[in-house]
Amino acid sequence: MDFFSLQSLLLFFLLSLSLCLYLNLHPSKKKPIYRTGFKIYPLVGALPEFLKNRHRFLDWTTDVLASCPTSTTVFRRPGKVQGIITANPLNIEHMLKNNFENYPKGERVLFLLEDFLGQGIFNSDGNIWKVQRKTASHEFNTKSLRNFAMQSAKEEIQTRLIPLLKKAAEMNHPIDVQEILERFAFDNVCKVAFNVDPACLDGDGTSGWEFMRAFEDAATLSSRRFMYVVPFLWRIKKLLNIGSERRLKESISTVHDFAEKIIRSRIEENTGEKDTDLLSRFIANDENSMEFLRDIVISFILAGRDTTSSALTWFFWLLSSRPDVERNILNELKSIRTRYGKVIGDTYNLDEIREMHYLHAAISEALRLYPPVPLDTKACREDDIMPDGTFVGKGWFVTYHTYAMGRMETLWGKDCREYSPERWMENGTCRRENPFRFPVFHAGPRMCLGKDMAYIQMKSIAASVVERFEMDVVDKDTCPGHVMSLTLRMKGGLRVRVKERCADVVD
Ligand code: HEM
Repeated sequence: MDFFSLQSLLLFFLLSLSLCLYLNLHPSKKKPIYRTGFKIYPLVGALPEFLKNRHRFLDWTTDVLASCPTSTTVFRRPGKVQGIITANPLNIEHMLKNNFENYPKGERVLFLLEDFLGQGIFNSDGNIWKVQRKTASHEFNTKSLRNFAMQSAKEEIQTRLIPLLKKAAEMNHPIDVQEILERFAFDNVCKVAFNVDPACLDGDGTSGWEFMRAFEDAATLSSRRFMYVVPFLWRIKKLLNIGSERRLKESISTVHDFAEKIIRSRIEENTGEKDTDLLSRFIANDENSMEFLRDIVISFILAGRDTTSSALTWFFWLLSSRPDVERNILNELKSIRTRYGKVIGDTYNLDEIREMHYLHAAISEALRLYPPVPLDTKACREDDIMPDGTFVGKGWFVTYHTYAMGRMETLWGKDCREYSPERWMENGTCRRENPFRFPVFHAGPRMCLGKDMAYIQMKSIAASVVERFEMDVVDKDTCPGHVMSLTLRMKGGLRVRVKERCADVVD
C-alpha cells in the first residue's frame, strides 16, 4: 500500500469518527433512513450503532432482526461494507440451495481469512472447494470412518476423559470444562482425519498446549478483522507488523509448523494404503503441494475441534440449572442399559447411541440457542431479489444469523429463549428439523460433512459424563458471555466442580 492511500485511509477514519461524535452529541441532527432494521445515517451508514454495539454484536443484531417484518435488514457502513443480514428461512434456502451459484463465500471473506485458513475447504470457492468437497465427502460416507470415529471417541473417553474427571473429583479442584472438551475434540479430529494422536488430553495437559493456544488466538484475531471500523486498518497493522496483526502472524506460524509436522509424519510413514484416512487421500494426489495440504489440515482441525467443544460447553452449562432435563437423560440412559444388559461404565455402541432420542433433543436444543457457528457470510455475485422481496446488490455480503434464528418468536414461539428439549420430541423420538429453519450445520451443497460424526461424539461424551458425574458450575448465577471468534466460545471458559454420582441415585 502506498503512502497516499495510507493517508487517505487515516483521513477517512478521522472524518467518520468526527461525524459519528457529532451525531451522538446532537441527537436532533440524527436522521435515520429506515424505521425498522439498522439505523442508517447519511454518509456513515450504520457505523454509529455498530460502534455502540460492537461488543454485543450477536445480541444487538438479534434484537434488530426481531423488529423487522421479514427478519431481514440492510446493513451499510463506510468502506463499501454493504449487505443484508437475515434470519428468514426462505431467504436462507434461496442463498444456500436454490440460487447457490450466486452466493459463494466471496473475495472479501476469503481475503480476510486467507492468512489463517489459506485455501482450505472452509475458505475456498469454485474448483478448489469442489475438489476438497469431493474427496472429503467420499471419506465421510465410508462405514469404516464412522466405525473409526466411534472407536476413537470411546477410547478417548475411557482412557483419558473419565480418569481426568475422576481425579478432579477426588481433588475437589474446579476445572475448565471448555478447555478439556477442546483438548478432547482436538485429539479426536487428529486421529480421525489424519491418523495422528497428539495426546492433548493425556497427562498434565501440556502436550499440544502451545499449538492449542496459538490456534485459538489465530481464530479470534482473524475474526476480529471483520469488526474493524475502518475495514482496512488491519492491513496497515499487518504491513507495519504491529499489535494484533503481529500476534496473529506469530500464532499462524505456530499453527503452520504443527500442521506441517503432521503432514511430514504421514508422508514418512507412507503405508501405501491410500484410503486409511482423509489426509492420506489428499497426500496420494501428487499435485497437492505442502501448502495446500497444510490448509486442508487447518480447516479440518477448525471444523472438528471448535464446534463440538463449543456445543457441549453450552450444553453442560444449560444442564447445570435444569435438574429435570438431567433426570430425563439419566432415565433414558438407564432404560438403554437395562435393554442391552449394560452397567454404568460400559461404553455405548452406535445402535445404543442412536436410541438416545431425548439426549439428542437436549443437545439439539443447546445448539439452537448457542450455535457453534453463529453467523455465516456469503457474497452476492449478481443483483438478486430474495424471496421476501429484499433487494441484494452485486458485491454485497449476505449473512445468515443462526444465533438470532434460535431467538425468533416467529420461528420457535413465545418461549423461544427457553431451554426446552421437549420441543424436539414427537412420539418418543427426536424429530428432524428443516435445515433452513435450523441452519446450525449449514444446508444445501455446502452442508457440514461432520454432522453425524459430531452427534456421535457429543452424545458419547454427554452420556458417559452425565451418568457418572455431577457438575456444579462455579459461577452458576452469572450468565456467561461469549468470545467473538469464528466459533461461539464461552468467555472465560466453564469452571465446574465435579463429583462422582452415587450409584443408587443413578440406578
Ligand atoms: C456441533 C458440531 C458442528 C457444527 C455445529 C458444524 C457446523 C458447520 C457449519 C455451519 C458449516 C458451514 C461453514 C461454512 O460455511 O464455512 C460446516 C462445514 C463443515 N463441517 Fe461442520 N460442524 C460441526 C462439526 C463438524 C465435525 C466434527 C467435522 C469433521 C471433522 C465437520 C466438518 C465440516 C466440513 C468439512 C465442512 C465444510 C463443508 C464445505 O464447505 O463443503 N464439522 N460445519
